[in-house]
Amino acid sequence: MKVGVFDSGIGGLTVVKSLLHHQLFEEIIYFGDTARVPYGSKDKNTIIRYGIEAVEFFKNFELDLIVVACNSVSAYALSEMQESASCPVVGVVEAGVLATRNALKSKESNILILGTKATIASKAYEKGLHSLGFDNLIPHATPLFVPLVEENIKDEVLHATLKHYFKDLPHPDAIILGCTHFPLIASEIAAYFHNNTQLIHSGDAIVEYLQNNFDFSYKYENTQLQFFASENPDALKNTAKEWLAYE
Ligand code: DGL
Repeated sequence: MKVGVFDSGIGGLTVVKSLLHHQLFEEIIYFGDTARVPYGSKDKNTIIRYGIEAVEFFKNFELDLIVVACNSVSAYALSEMQESASCPVVGVVEAGVLATRNALKSKESNILILGTKATIASKAYEKGLHSLGFDNLIPHATPLFVPLVEENIKDEVLHATLKHYFKDLPHPDAIILGCTHFPLIASEIAAYFHNNTQLIHSGDAIVEYLQNNFDFSYKYENTQLQFFASENPDALKNTAKEWLAYE
C-alpha cells in the first residue's frame, strides 16, 4: 500500500504521525505546498486549483490512495480531486464528522468546530454533523493558532490567544481540531476547558475511516517515507524528523 499525503504545508505531518503509528502503509509520499501556505485564508476556487495540482504531482508515483490531510482542501476540493485522480482520494472532514459521531453518546452534545477561516466558511463540518442529527454546533475560526504552532510558541502568547478565542463560548462536550496544526496544541486547548471535553483529531479520525473502508489486514513496521515541498524541502524534512522522531 502506497499513499500520498497532501497538505498546504507542514501541518499534515500530524496526520502522517497517526498513519505511521497504526502501521497502515508500506510507503508514504508526503507533499506540502510550502510555497503557497496558508490555504486557510484563500478562496474556494484557488483551493480547488491547488488541490488538482497536487493530484497532478502525485501522478509521478503509482499510488493506491491519496489522503488529503488539509482540512481547508478537504472542505472545498475533495470531489474535484477525486475526479482528476486515478486512485481513491479521502479527506479529513468526512472522517472527522464520523469520528465525532462515534465519540459522542448524545445528539444534544455541544460541539465546538475549530478551523481556518476557509474551513469554517465552507460549513463542511456543520453540514456533515447536521445530517447526522447534531444541531448544537459552535463553528469558530481560529487562524492565529496556525502561526503560533509554526513558531512553536506555547507561552503566555498562546494562553492569551486561547482566551481571546474561547472566553465567550459555552463549555463544549467535544472539540473538532479541524486544522492540521491544532493537534500540536491539543493539550493546551484541552487544559483551557479543564480537560473535560473530547478532542477529535484529524489523524486519528482518518485512521478510523480508512480501517472502516479499506482492507488493512497487514501491518508495515518499516514504512518508507519520502517528503516533498514546493519550497524549502529541507525545512520540511527537518520538521518531519523532529515531529515524527525518525532518522
Ligand atoms: N493545513 C491547513 C488546514 O488544515 C492549515 C494551514 C493553512 O491555512 O494552510 O486547514
